[in-house]
Amino acid sequence: MKIAVFASGTGSNFAAVVEAVKEGRLKNIEIALLVCDRPGALVIKRAEQESIPVFSFQPKEYPDKAAYEQLVLDKLQEQGVELIVLAGYMRLIGPTLLHSYSSRMINLHPSLLPAFTGKDAIGQALDYGVKITGITVHFVDAGMDTGPIIAQRNVEIESGETKETLSHKIQIQEHQLLPEVIGWIAEGKIKLNGRKVEMK
Ligand code: GRF
Repeated sequence: MKIAVFASGTGSNFAAVVEAVKEGRLKNIEIALLVCDRPGALVIKRAEQESIPVFSFQPKEYPDKAAYEQLVLDKLQEQGVELIVLAGYMRLIGPTLLHSYSSRMINLHPSLLPAFTGKDAIGQALDYGVKITGITVHFVDAGMDTGPIIAQRNVEIESGETKETLSHKIQIQEHQLLPEVIGWIAEGKIKLNGRKVEMK
């Protein structure tokens, strides 16, 4: 299965997927494209080091979302991409991409959804004072972190926890779960039934 990863920043999750492919934990997966909306982002360097094709663009250079998403869609189709993985892509997906990749696009979010959607989910959880937070991988719909949930993992918030320590614990979970979910999808183990995601 050919996948594209969309990322905006550091790309540690992108790197985790690359490692899983290289180490053979993720079988029959090819990372066909990295899509990045910040041309200077570190994730681009990571992709170049692995000789993974990159499409990067500056959204503000386009009249609207539909214009750049059409370009992204062309690249995805050129490469024969079957699944889109949003891993730290800090933008809402518009109808152009959603229409072509409905049920074939997943997102990774650093909270136990539906709690703490949007930006700085880790800071939101700390500020709220919850004792357990975590991570979610879900299908993407038109909302902000609202699509059907595929998998979640807990992360405990201990006393004295800082954003830095909590982010580290969250990332450890993310780097394990994201490749795992991609594997389940590639193996045809995931079935979407309305809002419910079932494992076959
Ligand atoms: C991750 O925490 C992910 O959950 C969120 O953005 C972050 C991306 O981190 N959507 P990285 O760029 O993969 O290091």
